[in-house]
Amino acid sequence: MNEIDKKSLENAKKLFLSGAINSVEIGTIKGLQQIHKFLFDGLYDFAGIIRKENISKGNFRFGNSLYLEEMLKKIETMSEATLNDIIDKYVEMNIAHPFLEGNGRCTRIWLDLILKKNIHKIVNWKNIDKNLYLQAMERSPINTLEIKTLIENNLTEDFSLECVFKGIETSYYYENNN
Ligand SMILES: Nc1ncnc2c1ncn2[C@@H]1O[C@H](COP(=O)(O)OP(=O)(O)OP(=O)(O)O)[C@@H](O)[C@H]1O
Ligand SMILES: [Mg+2]
Repeated sequence: MNEIDKKSLENAKKLFLSGAINSVEIGTIKGLQQIHKFLFDGLYDFAGIIRKENISKGNFRFGNSLYLEEMLKKIETMSEATLNDIIDKYVEMNIAHPFLEGNGRCTRIWLDLILKKNIHKIVNWKNIDKNLYLQAMERSPINTLEIKTLIENNLTEDFSLECVFKGIETSYYYENNN
């Protein structure tokens, strides 16, 4: 893990330890920006800032920067009523990919806040294999079955700091080597 990622991991833990997580808006773009800002403040000059350039991964082009604001407004209004709805919303936010870097890590925390509020569960990230997760996310713009199955089978009601920290560490290792 490089120095930026190490410092960001510390910031992610501080987000929970300090209680700042409790003032994050849930399910909105503002909330996602708050998380991104907290994770990458002082590390990236675009911390918390929506990108103006186009980006891609593999063969997939994320939301065109020209329409990003509009996309994000629509995503905000998506339902959070069921697990299925929430994962649809998460997948759309991944397709939008509003930041130049660090989307995965901040959006997984954003997802957990929505899940905790609406279905009283969070993802047990430490039990989700990195390659299975990445394959499911690569597939998700076309078909959400894989990511839905993966998340559905790995939910927990353990909201302890220990469980959250293990999840965050796992989430940060998804980023390692890419
Ligand atoms: N080919 C792809 N198509 C769609 N989504 C993808 C693809 N590859 C990766 N992703 C998603 O994008 C995320 C990576 O985006 P980004 O690099 O901005 O975030 P990160 O936090 O730096 O990295 P990571 O999520 O790997 O920790 C992955 O976690 C996954 O959710
Ligand atoms: Mg990355």
